[in-house]
Amino acid sequence: MLYPQSNAHRQSIDLSGLWDFVFDPGNQGYNLGWEKGLSEKHPIAVPASWNDQFEDRRDYLGPAWYQTVFVLPWGWENHRIWLRFGSVNYLAEVWLNGSWLGQHEGGHLPFEFDITNLIQSQWNCLVVRVDGTLAPNRIPPGNITGSPEDFFESHAGNFPQAQFDFFPYCGIHRPVWIYATASTAIRDITVTTGIEGETGHVHVRAETVGTPNAQICFRLSGHGENLSARTICENHAAEAQILVPGAAFWAPNSPNLYTLQVELSENGEIVDAYSLQVGIRTIKIEGTRLLLNGQPIYLTGFGRHEDFPIIGRGYLPALIVKDYALMRWIGSNSFRTTHYPYSEPMLDLADRLGFMVIAETPAVGLFFHEDGLARRTTLCQQYLRDMIARDKNHPSVIMWSLANEPHSKPPHARSIFHDLYTTAKTLDPTRPVTLVSFLGTAEESFGFCDVLSLNRYFGWYSQSGDMESALKLLSEELDVLHQLYSKPLLLTEFGADAIAGHHAQPPEMFSEEYQAEMVLSYIAILRQKSFVVGEHVWNLCDFKTSQGVTRASALNHKGVFTRDRRPKLAAHRLRERWKQR
Ligand code: GCU
Repeated sequence: MLYPQSNAHRQSIDLSGLWDFVFDPGNQGYNLGWEKGLSEKHPIAVPASWNDQFEDRRDYLGPAWYQTVFVLPWGWENHRIWLRFGSVNYLAEVWLNGSWLGQHEGGHLPFEFDITNLIQSQWNCLVVRVDGTLAPNRIPPGNITGSPEDFFESHAGNFPQAQFDFFPYCGIHRPVWIYATASTAIRDITVTTGIEGETGHVHVRAETVGTPNAQICFRLSGHGENLSARTICENHAAEAQILVPGAAFWAPNSPNLYTLQVELSENGEIVDAYSLQVGIRTIKIEGTRLLLNGQPIYLTGFGRHEDFPIIGRGYLPALIVKDYALMRWIGSNSFRTTHYPYSEPMLDLADRLGFMVIAETPAVGLFFHEDGLARRTTLCQQYLRDMIARDKNHPSVIMWSLANEPHSKPPHARSIFHDLYTTAKTLDPTRPVTLVSFLGTAEESFGFCDVLSLNRYFGWYSQSGDMESALKLLSEELDVLHQLYSKPLLLTEFGADAIAGHHAQPPEMFSEEYQAEMVLSYIAILRQKSFVVGEHVWNLCDFKTSQGVTRASALNHKGVFTRDRRPKLAAHRLRERWKQR
């Protein structure tokens, strides 16, 4: 799904700003006809979660109603007009001028509606009902009654009762756009790249609407090149291969990008155009090595969260710029989008700055006993497809992660993940696929995943305070997994909570010294293993969670930076270590 952009042939307007809003704890909105306009209005910022914007509604997860009004921009008459939401968590129902547009389930991924026939030439009233209630048949799940034996008990007692370890923020979390194109327009572009010797191969496929056989031109420019390929669409699609001799390849230390311009013409006149950045690179597995452009790579980095005071999970460009500055300062080269797809601008910057990204679906906290299993499985498939459709053209995305820490002991879990693995490989045969597990040798999906991704907290949740035993267990388990699978292994999470400013010598749990010792000691073990291809510390920053006995101030304190992005001792020690490579 293409991100809105403006050029000589299409126009986009971001509706971010102050909207009208009202909570609906009695679920009266339908009866009161709020889809035609809100009778009670309070100001709210969009994009941002609603939870921290008010004095008394942190734990209220919905329903709530949003409204904004906008005028049809001049010159947009006789165009195809779209309404696009970047992310609404969790369930969105949308009306325009009192007419039903549709609904979308699931946060962190975009959805859009063709509003050409409903938009009015003057004022337009957009109403969105959002419900963030946690439920067993939603992804990620929550409010699960009972505690089946395969359940991770620690979440059963938290509030709100999320089956995952981050606060279930709700609301319109990313920008809402309206955009206009000609009736014949580009609807999707897929770019795959290859390398032969010094030559880059750029394969482009475009899909269109309107005239089925419009003319199309693919132009690739940059690094002194101006290459093009012209063809005719057949049944709303066209493909081309562009060879780039002596190409400037994309890699973390040299994130070379080209500009691909796609131009769609009717009777020789350009009616639509779209441009995107292209990075020519390959990512492959060879034995236990991860190769980028044929060279082995080692990932240093983090899991993080889209999380900040007041905005909650809302999109904030300054925070994205800041987190990249911190990740560069500390010497990391990669991150995983834990535990949901991040905003499109976050991935655009990864392309530009040369960060490698493991793109992860919102499937966290999955369980496999019957309560809603069929629906959860369907949603996992949908979210995987939507994530790949959105993020497939980023050179920075080097791997897909199917889920984080599924409770996948029940035997039928394996087939569910194998179906997801097959979906990912079918949609995108160019990237390796992983699943992030805490089951280790009991994780059946490791049998078919391309890369083993493991989260381990020996010395924290087990062998607490006993670093020596922890490191011994870690080393032994890594060797067993290597003997079992002989696949590249990523330690996708390790770390310890540290209360900023709390110190102890000798180190003790919750001190900055213990966190630094844990992180650096794990790294020393990982660097002894030739089959380990990366180390992702949990977490870049402290982040908001549900309330629970293990979360002081309802925060996860495993960040090497505080929630307001100040370094702890572990950040300095990591910087020293990662600067050595
Ligand atoms: C798990 C999980 C994280 C969580 C972490 C922790 O590995 O993947 O989401 O925050 O443990 O308990 O700190």
